[in-house]
Amino acid sequence: MSKKTIRDINVTGKTVLVRVDFNVPMNDAGEITDDNRIRQALPTIQSLIENNAKVVLFSHLGRVKTEADKAGKSLKPVAEMLSEKLVRPVKFVPHTRGIELETAVASLQAGDVMMFENTRFEDIDGKKESKNDPELGRYWASLGDVFVNDAFGTAHREHASNVGIASNMSEVAAGLLLEKEIKFIGGTIEHPDRPFYAILGGAKVSDKIGVIENLLDIADKVLIGGGMSYTFLKAQGYEIGTSIVEDDKLDLAKRLLEKGKDKLVFADDFKVSKEFKNDTPIRVADKDDIKPDEMGLDIGPKTLEHYQSLLKDAKTIVWNGPVGVFEMENFAKGTLGILETLASLKDTITILGGGDSAAAAISLGYEDDITHISTGGGASLEYFEGKVLPGIAAIDDLS
Ligand code: 3PG
Repeated sequence: MSKKTIRDINVTGKTVLVRVDFNVPMNDAGEITDDNRIRQALPTIQSLIENNAKVVLFSHLGRVKTEADKAGKSLKPVAEMLSEKLVRPVKFVPHTRGIELETAVASLQAGDVMMFENTRFEDIDGKKESKNDPELGRYWASLGDVFVNDAFGTAHREHASNVGIASNMSEVAAGLLLEKEIKFIGGTIEHPDRPFYAILGGAKVSDKIGVIENLLDIADKVLIGGGMSYTFLKAQGYEIGTSIVEDDKLDLAKRLLEKGKDKLVFADDFKVSKEFKNDTPIRVADKDDIKPDEMGLDIGPKTLEHYQSLLKDAKTIVWNGPVGVFEMENFAKGTLGILETLASLKDTITILGGGDSAAAAISLGYEDDITHISTGGGASLEYFEGKVLPGIAAIDDLS
């Protein structure tokens, strides 16, 4: 990779500002319900500790527009969980600027770790963080000697806490998580091991237009599943009953069908029912046999078998989005079947975009069987679209 990483810089005794993406889901009691992003940031933090850096971590959490939005969005519980995982104190400063923060940074010793408050608390007064306010980027940059960006999940944003700081620091490097994301997603987009197959699911074509377009240029096959199948099916003139559809995207679907030709692979059969619920009579219908009062909620067994046999030939597989309503047990078979196949392919590079399919893989215990599970939702989609991510562009190139 052509970007500088923490392997390329000397951090000993230096105050290292580290942008992480600790935008983690929390329940109403303020408990973290998915710690993946925290676990994935540990190698970078541990490496900086081992190399005697003074580590200053910061992140956003949720979206904050008003004073009232701050409730439940403090990073304190995240600092506490991080402290448990690192088995060392992580001092938490409940501010985003000011004397308390500056004193805490100045008192750090080599190997110490601290975290400051949600960077988006700066959005209440004029969206300073999200609009990359130059004064804020300069201020945060003034707190440290080196900037390390390990926040892949935020790399598609041009904010003060990633791009703003970077433009005010003389040394900017990627953390180990960001390096991994660039290696697997960036590497696949640039030079995939072939055959390269993509599986794209999810409810809407509109969410994935850019990804489908770009992957049709790069991949050898693009297998479609999930709710977006029915917009494509309707565009081809089939009856789709009450299945989810985007009528305003039918022309777009026709254009993609024309562009993709044989590269685009669709389901031939579906699990259909009359109601959107788990406990309801279900039948398997071929694509030309969906009745006007039925909706498709999963790919059918014939399609699953077909997709599984295709995937076994691939050298690289990228998957983004479930192929059915996997939250309901009776419509989860397609998504689970694809996941099991990916997990069994030991000589294939398997990459999961962030979001639902990634969360499913982790919660079902397949984390170690997949080559790379991205920590980015929107960021991984934009990367697969072939866009330049500002957070990555702002990192120093290796000279
Ligand atoms: C995410 O969860 O996708 C990232 O943390 C970015 O969050 P955002 O969409 O609020 O910028």
